Amino acid sequence: MLPSFCTLGLALFVTQSYGHSTPLTIPAPGKHSEPVERDLQSFSIEFAFFPDYAGNRSNPNKFSEHLLENFQRITGVYPRVRVGGTTQDKSNYYPDQEEGIQLVFAKPTDDQPSEIKYGPAFFESYHTLGDIKFSHGLNMAQNASLHQLQLAAVEACTSIGPQLDMYELGNEWDLSGDDYRPANYSLLDYVNEWNEKSAIVKAATQKACPGLFPGFMAPSFVFIDGMTTWTAEELYNLDYDPHDLTKEISFHNYMGVFAPPLAPVSYDLQKTLMNHTNIVDNLGLQIQRMKSLAHLGHPYILGETNSIANQGRDGESNVFGDALWVVDFSLWAAANNIKRLNFHQGLNYRYVSWQPIASEGQPPETRPPYYGHIMVASSLGHSENNRIVNIPLKEDTESAYAIYDGERLSKLVVVNLNAFNQSTTTGRPSRKYEFKVPGHYQGSTVERLIAPGSDALTNITFGGVSYDYDLKQGRPVTLDWKKERADIHGNMLQIDVPDSSAVLLSLI
Ligand SMILES: *[C@@H]1O[C@H](CO)[C@@H](O)[C@H](O)[C@H]1NC(C)=O
Ligand SMILES: *[C@@H]1O[C@H](CO)[C@@H](O)[C@H](O)[C@H]1NC(C)=O
Ligand SMILES: *[C@@H]1O[C@H](CO)[C@@H](O)[C@H](O)[C@H]1NC(C)=O
Ligand SMILES: *[C@@H]1O[C@H](CO)[C@@H](O)[C@H](O)[C@H]1NC(C)=O
Ligand SMILES: *[C@@H]1O[C@H](CO)[C@@H](O)[C@H](O)[C@H]1NC(C)=O
Ligand SMILES: *[C@@H]1O[C@H](CO)[C@@H](O)[C@H](O)[C@H]1NC(C)=O
Repeated sequence: MLPSFCTLGLALFVTQSYGHSTPLTIPAPGKHSEPVERDLQSFSIEFAFFPDYAGNRSNPNKFSEHLLENFQRITGVYPRVRVGGTTQDKSNYYPDQEEGIQLVFAKPTDDQPSEIKYGPAFFESYHTLGDIKFSHGLNMAQNASLHQLQLAAVEACTSIGPQLDMYELGNEWDLSGDDYRPANYSLLDYVNEWNEKSAIVKAATQKACPGLFPGFMAPSFVFIDGMTTWTAEELYNLDYDPHDLTKEISFHNYMGVFAPPLAPVSYDLQKTLMNHTNIVDNLGLQIQRMKSLAHLGHPYILGETNSIANQGRDGESNVFGDALWVVDFSLWAAANNIKRLNFHQGLNYRYVSWQPIASEGQPPETRPPYYGHIMVASSLGHSENNRIVNIPLKEDTESAYAIYDGERLSKLVVVNLNAFNQSTTTGRPSRKYEFKVPGHYQGSTVERLIAPGSDALTNITFGGVSYDYDLKQGRPVTLDWKKERADIHGNMLQIDVPDSSAVLLSLI
């Protein structure tokens, strides 16, 4: 689908300007600011739907391959992919099963199957997407046979080989313990069970695949408000993981939950996702926990994250406003030293970055959030020594970041989070920003993340590029878009940012 608005250029957007009266000073990176990994933007794919996303040897999913390859081109590295989620604790491995995967749905309208059986052919899906490092989710819930757990771990290390980055044993047991275990199952019971089963996985793996044990992402807790009494501090006080098999500390994160009672969707989009203050509040808990667990000496990641839990909400997590949320959320997390963000995906989910195959009447499609990820990856580029600093602004509905390559200020990002409805006919407001930049720059290139409105589902571009399925199956297609440049006059760089859009300025 070729967006027709692009030929109109920016004239369409700039109807009235408002903004900051004084120029903005750009802070230097603080002394605690750590380099940002280029695979910050990574993915998590729901265990049951991994074959839909990746395909298999005879039927690789080229669309997913292209979409992941785009990151490799922009940053030099592939995103990492975690294969896991709720369905990992419902997935049992059967070495004699011929089909890669069998799904049983309790009700046909359910988002997820209630039972999953997988066989050796499932692991073909780890070899269709490129040079990606994967984590394989193991089922901690099944208690019928420890041998089955060993078989699954061994098949993972032999089949995935050097691309096996980590294991994961159990998903969100702070919530799910009750689903699989008696109501009195305690945090100590969890610790004992995880310790015992992780040791079994390690022993089996080392026998079958000698060499360095890959380790686990753990504990994969989510801590949704009011739904558990367990805490991370208590967990690590209870002799959790005594042999230090954890490679990365993983917690899950969502901005809200798709469950009643619900505010109107457009209200929620502005208040929950298109709201810098709310993002800062939401990630505050993770950042605090990361600091309190720093003594463990492992990277702290969001092993599964996305906007609205329970697979997202139409009109909020599947629209362009969510892409702007992705940009602000990711840059704020990275500026605060969270090491990786695995954005969760699943077939027919309402918050995904792409629908990998046709299903339930929905065609394969690049969805708005994907463009947010591309913008974040572009703001990092190939540099291995990026640090990100937030530039404080006044309103809930705006944010800005400086990106330093080593000591050198290299890029600026501005996000205008004011919701703009694409059906509005009175013109699109725009905010003006003026930055005071060091003397030696001449100007900057300008790449915009833009769409007809925050409620738009299509016609989205970053830097004039579309990744739509219908154009080139997810490969970049540059649409007819004039190269834009911002000049610097007397150390001042000025830029207009239309409501519901973001801009990446690369200083030259
Ligand atoms: C979006 O793209 C479609 C398909 O090309 C086009 O018909 C439509 O006019 C575009 N919408 C806007 C708001 O530009
Ligand atoms: C490979 O994928 C195709 C298409 O989804 C499917 O029909 C086939 O059964 C899969 N192969 C195996 C061994 O599962
Ligand atoms: C937990 O509940 C089970 C029955 O559901 C019972 O057999 C067991 O004794 C209880 N354990 C404790 C420590 O209360
Ligand atoms: C499952 O196994 C673990 C570890 O052996 C044990 O602690 C737990 O009580 C078992 N649960 C059930 C329901 O059998
Ligand atoms: C956009 O405007 C239309 C028409 O006024 C309205 O029906 C719709 O609810 C609005 N959407 C949002 C997300 O505000
Ligand atoms: C943004 O979020 C904060 C904190 O949750 C809230 O107090 C504020 O009202 C929200 N702003 C908007 C514009 O909804």
